Amino acid sequence: MKVESRKVSDSRVETVHIVRPNHLNAAGRLFGGMLMQWIDEVAALVAKRHTHTNVTTASVDNLSFLKGAYPGDSVVIIGQLVYVGRTSMDIKVDSYVESMDGTRTLINHAYLTVVALDQNDHPIPVPRLELTTEDEAVEWEEAKRRRELRKSL
Ligand SMILES: CC(C)(COP(=O)(O)OP(=O)(O)OC[C@H]1O[C@@H](n2cnc3c(N)ncnc32)[C@H](O)[C@@H]1OP(=O)(O)O)[C@@H](O)C(=O)NCCC(=O)NCCS
Repeated sequence: MKVESRKVSDSRVETVHIVRPNHLNAAGRLFGGMLMQWIDEVAALVAKRHTHTNVTTASVDNLSFLKGAYPGDSVVIIGQLVYVGRTSMDIKVDSYVESMDGTRTLINHAYLTVVALDQNDHPIPVPRLELTTEDEAVEWEEAKRRRELRKSL
C-alpha cells in the first residue's frame, strides 16, 4: 500500500562511531572526508526510511566543520527530514562529540538534498511530511527559503 505521508520522527536516524586510527588524517584528527561519508550515509538512511525506495544525494549545503574529533571520541550523528519537495527531500544532519558524562558538543552541521528513485533510477514522488512540533515548522520554513535561494542562483 502506498503511504501518503510520514512524520519527521518516523525517519529520524542516530548513529555512533568511535574514532579509530583508520579514520584519522595526517594531523591525527578525524579526517573530514570520513565524517562526510558518515553524514551522507545518515542522510540516505533518513530518506530511505521516509520513502522506502532507493535514493541518491543531489547536493550538500552549508556543510560546516566547527570542531575537530580525536582518537577514541564517540561521534554521534543525527539526521532528520526538514522539508520534502515533489521527488526530493532536505535533511539536516548534526554531528556531535559525546563526552563520558553524555554532554554533546556540536562538531559539524550540514543540509543534504536527497532524491527518491524508481527501479530505473528516475526521480519519483515522495510521501508528504507531517509536521508535529513548532521546531519542525520553523525548520520547514527555513528549508523552503534555502531552496528558493538555491534555485535563484
Ligand atoms: C539527482 C538526480 C537524480 C536529479 O535528476 P534530474 O534528472 O535532474 O531530475 P529532476 O530535474 O526531475 O529533479 C529531481 C529533483 O531533484 C532536485 N534536484 C536536482 N538537482 C539538484 C541539485 N543539484 N541540488 C538540489 N536538488 C536538486 C530537483 O529540484 C527536483 O526536486 P523536486 O522534485 O522535489 O522539486 C541526478 O542529477 C543524478 O542522478 N545525480 C547524480 C547523483 C549521485 O550519483 N549522487 C552520488 C554522488 S557520488
